[in-house]
Amino acid sequence: MTPSRLLLSGRLSEPVARALAARLPDVSLRARVDPAPADLDWADSYAAFGWPSTDHAVSFDWVHSMGAGVDAFIDHAGQIGVLTRTLGAMPERMGAFVLALVLGRAHHLREYALSQDVREWRPLPPEPLPRRAAILGTGVVASGVARALTGQGIAVTGVNRSGRTSPHFSAVVPWGRLEDALRDCSLVVAALPASSSTYRIIGEDVLGQLRSAHLVNVGRGSTLDLAALGSALASGTVVHADLDVFDHEPLDNGSWLWAHPAVRVTPHVAAVTAVEDAVDAIASTWADLRASRLPATLVTRPG
Ligand code: GLV
Repeated sequence: MTPSRLLLSGRLSEPVARALAARLPDVSLRARVDPAPADLDWADSYAAFGWPSTDHAVSFDWVHSMGAGVDAFIDHAGQIGVLTRTLGAMPERMGAFVLALVLGRAHHLREYALSQDVREWRPLPPEPLPRRAAILGTGVVASGVARALTGQGIAVTGVNRSGRTSPHFSAVVPWGRLEDALRDCSLVVAALPASSSTYRIIGEDVLGQLRSAHLVNVGRGSTLDLAALGSALASGTVVHADLDVFDHEPLDNGSWLWAHPAVRVTPHVAAVTAVEDAVDAIASTWADLRASRLPATLVTRPG
């Protein structure tokens, strides 16, 4: 299959199309923030962060997700020939982001920002880093987090469906042995995709097993049961939560999360796609498809 009419949509469509024009001279490109039905009919391929919002019947030979997450496309699998995605430097970026959260807490960066606001000089002893962490999810992006944490001497156990090992984790266990991963663990990082099997998977069962833990969610909002998080914060099984992803984004202005003293909200920025990540992934995938090679970017079902 050689895709020849690629429609790019969404916030990166224009810069990505400009850079791709030189890399893919044999492909006709259209960049549209909001594609019209005529654009959708024209295209044999589509690259964006989400499925087009239209009632128009659409299908594509090739769809490329500009992000690492593909939940916005999975429901349309029947309308997609080949589904690929962007990873680029996202595993490293996600690792750096999670490490920044962990180090920022250990070194009291928030307290110092608050002290500066009131011109207060108040040195605090740094907290030790966690000795053990669990990462829920062991995909490529989660592996980037594992690498960043193990680099600090933190023992990292991954949790996935099969228990299959994955690079950069100290150990991997299946969900059935979750308690082994959570035992003595003071940091839990959720890096799970959204799917029917991960919906609200981080609920009472998981949070109730923790002891004074720091919870980070950089996967998808749907994986976390917020009522269970509220109870865990009240009982102290979770003492701090850094949340980057939410059911509805932007997070609703009325959400209790904004004002909770032990919750930090960030606006889905843990691993933002850079233009060059998307351009490289699209150009290399197109070359693979033309040569009938299996693209390295191909989306396969998680293990
Ligand atoms: C970010 O959440 C992405 O899917 O890349």
